[in-house]
Amino acid sequence: MSKKVDLLQMVEYGGCSAKISPNQLEEILKYLPLPKDPNILVDIDTHDDAGVYKVNNDLALVLTTDFFPPVCSDPYEFGQIAAANSISDVYAMGGDPVLALNIMMFPAAKLPMEAYADILKGGFDKATEAGVRIIGGHTIDDFPPKYGLAVVGYIHPEKVITNAGARPGDSLILTKPIGTGIILAGHRLGMVSDDDLTEAKRLMKLLNKTGAEVMKKFNIRGATDITGFGLAGHALKMAKASRVSIRITMKEVPLIGNSYNLIDDGCIPGASFRNLEYVEKDTDFASDLDYNLKMIAFDAQTSGGLLFSAPDEKVNEILEDLHTAGLQNSKVIGNVSEYKDKFIHLF
Ligand code: CO
Ligand code: CO
Ligand code: CO
Repeated sequence: MSKKVDLLQMVEYGGCSAKISPNQLEEILKYLPLPKDPNILVDIDTHDDAGVYKVNNDLALVLTTDFFPPVCSDPYEFGQIAAANSISDVYAMGGDPVLALNIMMFPAAKLPMEAYADILKGGFDKATEAGVRIIGGHTIDDFPPKYGLAVVGYIHPEKVITNAGARPGDSLILTKPIGTGIILAGHRLGMVSDDDLTEAKRLMKLLNKTGAEVMKKFNIRGATDITGFGLAGHALKMAKASRVSIRITMKEVPLIGNSYNLIDDGCIPGASFRNLEYVEKDTDFASDLDYNLKMIAFDAQTSGGLLFSAPDEKVNEILEDLHTAGLQNSKVIGNVSEYKDKFIHLF
């Protein structure tokens, strides 16, 4: 293990809070021609978590990459969180992650090489837990450090779970509580208890593997993971791709520790406002919606949980399975209806 290095001192926004704003991204993507190929089953057209390419009638590849600046002080934990987050997009599509490459930016003159090794070791251990073999990578000398994986997974071409699979009448299930952005902002200000920080880190390290296994068992067709664009941002991508309206009851959304009260003390990361700007025009806000709960809907999550759309009659069984699998905070937080007025209705 390396001598005490604090990665958080090197960054202003870490984790998925460091993503470019969704509005800017959509502007840029307009100019990018999409390749045409009948074997491309999923591309950025539906804003899905990963691309899917059909190899033959039984096999398609799921491809994704994510990387970001540190979300925590410890290099080994940062490696674990970054890897769990990168692999998550394969799980969100219903795939089995298989192989990965490291993507690393590391300031060799500013940090000891032990920190570099510890980040990679964290990534390697988390990948191993997921059954993923890391078979290569690439490093650039750069400040601040950034780390993630490019991941390849397998999936049956007819069993792909996408943003476009939500159906009117479905319930929406969330598998991890919200609040990593708020907790990390509060931690920087010295306002977060050790227990809450430990819980946020535990959740960020937690693979979405078990949640994905439950989705597959129940033949779920519509899902995403909740990361940088926040609960409402990712729900919007689902609503648009599925051409439905999504209603989220914010009071039902499980939260990490003291997240709600930290907002009163000003712990709202800049990413929340960028996310709000992105979702606002497509959202109907209940007139009595509490301000803190509203901002929680836009909190950028790092390595957040799965949000999936499930037939109402299966919900109890699904929740029982999720709870048994260790995802005790899994809950129904809203539902899907025919498109009406706006894509998102926040209550
Ligand atoms: Co994702
Ligand atoms: Co991602
Ligand atoms: Co290279």
